[in-house]
Amino acid sequence: MRKLATSMTALATLFIATQAQAEDVEVLHWWTSGGEAAALNVLKGDLESQGIGWQDMPVAGGGGTQAMTVLRARVTAGNPPTAVQMLGFDILDWAKEGALADLNILAGMEGWDAVVPEALQQFAKHDGKWVSAPVNVHSTNWVWANKAVLDELGIAVPTTWDEFVAALEAVKASGKTAIAHGGQAWQDATVFDAVVMSTGGLDFYKSAFIDLDEDALGSDTMKEAFDRMGVIRSYVDDNFSGRDWNLATAMVINGDAAFQMMGDWAKGEFLNAGKVPDQDFLCFRFPGTQEQVTFNADQFAMFAQGPEVGKEQAALATAILSPSFQSAFNVVKGSVPARTDVSNEAFDACGKKGMADLKAAAASGNLVGSMAHGHANPASVKNAIYDVVTAHFNGEYDSAAAVDELVTAVQINK
Ligand code: BGC
Repeated sequence: MRKLATSMTALATLFIATQAQAEDVEVLHWWTSGGEAAALNVLKGDLESQGIGWQDMPVAGGGGTQAMTVLRARVTAGNPPTAVQMLGFDILDWAKEGALADLNILAGMEGWDAVVPEALQQFAKHDGKWVSAPVNVHSTNWVWANKAVLDELGIAVPTTWDEFVAALEAVKASGKTAIAHGGQAWQDATVFDAVVMSTGGLDFYKSAFIDLDEDALGSDTMKEAFDRMGVIRSYVDDNFSGRDWNLATAMVINGDAAFQMMGDWAKGEFLNAGKVPDQDFLCFRFPGTQEQVTFNADQFAMFAQGPEVGKEQAALATAILSPSFQSAFNVVKGSVPARTDVSNEAFDACGKKGMADLKAAAASGNLVGSMAHGHANPASVKNAIYDVVTAHFNGEYDSAAAVDELVTAVQINK
């Protein structure tokens, strides 16, 4: 009885808190491209309409590596931002340090348990408590194509690795760039997610990246995956090094290149440029991964400011989890909702495919966390894998050496 009374009081306090005039939120994020900024404006607008101000703290760099470095510095200085865009294992790492606010009362009031997919809850909860608010579900095993370029060259959507290589060859022969790519470690790793899944299949991907099994990491299949990365490298243009991902997407949008392998945040760039799926561009799963989804979910973790979650933090979390926001935001962002009860009506063809793929993969056990985007292993391991993949992509190692380096790097960092 006493316990019930206490939690009722806590509930009432929280309710009053969320209704009361809230403070500004300071949000650390890495949504700096045109499409990402358009999506972020949906969230800013939502909060501003509730009288909550937005202090922007953008730190560019896909995958969030730089953002996480800035975050560490802010926390060390005793001045964490109110809310932080975060991925997978990073959320759990901060929760273990006791740095995150407890969102359990709010989550209970709003019934998050019943609507957020289990795969996301694994990263949104620590010790049974909600510690972050899931914004979306992205996935990395996509290919984006310029439809006019493919039509002109008579290229059908490739469904196998061999068909894909034949398509790349045909584009190269036409004088265009076959693959638009940005040579940054996280982008190389994003491609590697799909290549490893396609080369070895679901169980191999899990053994290598989730279980960090040495036999899988050191196998001939892994060597084959590195060989395929070498093939991909031979179809990128000479200026790929250091290029931002959205500039690579622009090459496909403009018809300078045929394909980009990138997560579905790339769709946000096409939409922001006024392009329409199936008319101007195509989205399809990386050949050989049609049944699988390598996912990453953006979440906002709230840094604890005291014993109670802040009013503005609660308001932000409520806004993020609302079904109307989940639809409006994800339609623009290129991702799909982090709730299972949101209609696909407002989504375009790629969004509808993304939602259907996610549902099917979750039901069949083909849904697995993205290594490149922090959903397969902690940052220390992820960054060690990044280093090897990038060094190989830039010709520092051949495939056999890359496999050996991968085994050692994971061993040291796990
Ligand atoms: C995030 C996306 C973001 C992408 C590129 C990923 O890690 O999950 O939301 O659009 O990086 O910045």
